[in-house]
Amino acid sequence: MSNDGVNAGRRRFLVAATSVVGAAGAVGAATPFVGSWFPSAKAKAAGAPVKVNIAKVEPGQQMIAEWRGQPVFIVRRTEEILANLTKIDGNVADPESAASVQPEYVDKKTRAIKPEILVLVGLCTHLGCSPSFRPEVAPADLGPEWVGGYFCPCHGSRYDLAGRVYKAQPAPLNLPVPPHSYESDEVIVIGVDQEKA
Ligand code: FES
Repeated sequence: MSNDGVNAGRRRFLVAATSVVGAAGAVGAATPFVGSWFPSAKAKAAGAPVKVNIAKVEPGQQMIAEWRGQPVFIVRRTEEILANLTKIDGNVADPESAASVQPEYVDKKTRAIKPEILVLVGLCTHLGCSPSFRPEVAPADLGPEWVGGYFCPCHGSRYDLAGRVYKAQPAPLNLPVPPHSYESDEVIVIGVDQEKA
């Protein structure tokens, strides 16, 4: 496999409109003498939380945000998608995400705060390509058993629509769920943990 596969995966990483929380640049400009004691505005922005408005994401669709230089997949799941997750529990390697990365306030099985909204770091746990969103059922290239999920173009790892990796794939773990929270029904903040109710 050449690097072309990796680059093709990266090219699929389209960044949607997001906004960085705070105004680190303005603060830095006002305090030039102490600025060097603190992380630069650029460094702060690179690690800062991002707010994402999900209002326009239709059921069954995905949008991609960027957080810490990584693609973040946000999918509005349908009832059918959620029902299919249970059907394929026996086909995925870590169905309840015991070994995978996710915040403790996320449901282990749906891997979400709200079942209908999935938020994932969009980098394959094998070697870091960005998997393709393949929500269709039984497409010719993925076979009759396919109920929608992610397909990694680099070495073929398959994930379901909770980011759970299928058994016997190059990727060892489920796609990570990043820390996130809801500012409102329509605005997710990626990089800020959900407070306990
Ligand atoms: S990077 Fe190898 S399968 Fe995804």
